[in-house]
Amino acid sequence: MPSSVMSTSIRGGGPQSPAAVSTIGLRKSYGDKTVLNGIDLRIPAGSVFALLGPNGAGKTTTVQILSTLIAADGGQAQVAGHDVATSPDRVRTAIGVTGQFSAVDGLITGEENMLLMADLHHLSKREGRRTAAELLERFDLTEAAKKPASTYSGGMKRRLDIAMTLVGNPRIIFLDEPTTGLDPRSRHNMWQIIRELVTDGVTVFLTTQYLEEADQLADRIAVLDDGKIAAEGTAEELKRLIPGGHVQLRFSDPSAHQSAALALREVTRDDDSLTLQIPSDGTQRELRSILDWLDSAGIEADELTVHTPDLDDVFFALTGGTDQRKEALR
Ligand SMILES: Nc1ncnc2c1ncn2[C@@H]1O[C@H](COP(=O)(O)OP(=O)(O)OP(=O)(O)O)[C@@H](O)[C@H]1O
Ligand SMILES: [Mg+2]
Repeated sequence: MPSSVMSTSIRGGGPQSPAAVSTIGLRKSYGDKTVLNGIDLRIPAGSVFALLGPNGAGKTTTVQILSTLIAADGGQAQVAGHDVATSPDRVRTAIGVTGQFSAVDGLITGEENMLLMADLHHLSKREGRRTAAELLERFDLTEAAKKPASTYSGGMKRRLDIAMTLVGNPRIIFLDEPTTGLDPRSRHNMWQIIRELVTDGVTVFLTTQYLEEADQLADRIAVLDDGKIAAEGTAEELKRLIPGGHVQLRFSDPSAHQSAALALREVTRDDDSLTLQIPSDGTQRELRSILDWLDSAGIEADELTVHTPDLDDVFFALTGGTDQRKEALR
C-alpha cells in the first residue's frame, strides 16, 4: 500500500477501520455464577463504544478482561491487535484504564499522583514534569495541583483519574462509569473531554448506566444482560427495536376520557390514569393530523404529550425482563 494512503487521516470508527477491540465468545464465571456467557464485540479504531447494562451485568468484568487485569475462562479477545491472554504486556502499553473506583491516592497531591504515573510509564523526570503540567492544565487542575487529592471534589478526582490514565498517551482507553456521581455540569464537561480524546483519534470503550451518556457519546452501543449482548447498534438502531412513539392525551374528567376513547377507537386506553395513547412518529405532519382529528371529533384533552422512544425504553425492554419479551425483540 502506498504510504500516502496509509497516512491518510480520516475520522476513524467506520466499519472498515481496523478493530481496536474484538472478542469472540468471551466467557467468565465466578464459582457457579456465569457472568459473561459468550460475548462477541468488534470496536473499530477511533470510535466510541458504550457498554450498557444493569448493576452486576458484567460491565466491569468485561473491562477487566480486556485490560488484562483478570483472565477470561474462554473465548478470545484482541486489543490493539494483540491477544490479551498471550501478549498482555503489549496490550498494556497500548491502553489506559480508568476504573470504576478511583485510582487517585488521596494522601498525596494531584501533581504527585501524576508524577507517579509518569514514573510508572518510565518517562524521564523532565518529560514527566512536562506531561503532568500539560495534563493538569488541560483538565483544569493546575490551581489544585499542589493540594492533597483527598481535598478534591468528586468531579476533580474523576478528572485527575482520567488525566492519570492519559500519561502514557494510550491509543485505546477504557472508562468504567466515568461520570457516575458527577453533577450535570461536571458530566457535560467530562463528555467534552471524551469528545476531544476521540478527535485526537483515541478509541474509547466506556461503560455507563446513563442512557443519555451513551446516546450523546457513543458511535455504537451494546446492551449487556444476563451474560449476553442483548442488542448492539447505533442509538438510532436500538431505538428502532422497540415499539414506536406515541401521542398521549390526558383527561381529568372520566366521562370525557370515556367518550374520547369511544370516538377515537384505535387507541390504547388506560382507565386508571385517564389517558389515551395514539401511535405516532412525532413528526409535525402527524401531529397536525392528530390535532385535526381530535378537533373534528370535538375532543379536548387536558394535556397532550409527545413521546418518542429513548434509550431508557430500550434499556427497560431489553434488560431484566422475561425471556419471552426479550426474545420477541431480537
Ligand atoms: N472477584 C469476584 N468474585 C466473585 N464474584 C464477582 C467478582 N467480581 C465480580 N463478581 C460478580 O460478577 C457479576 C458482574 O460484576 P461486574 O462488576 O462486572 O458488574 P457491573 O456490570 O460492572 O455492575 P455495576 O453496574 O454495579 O458496576 C456480579 O454478580 C458480581 O457480584
Ligand atoms: Mg461495574
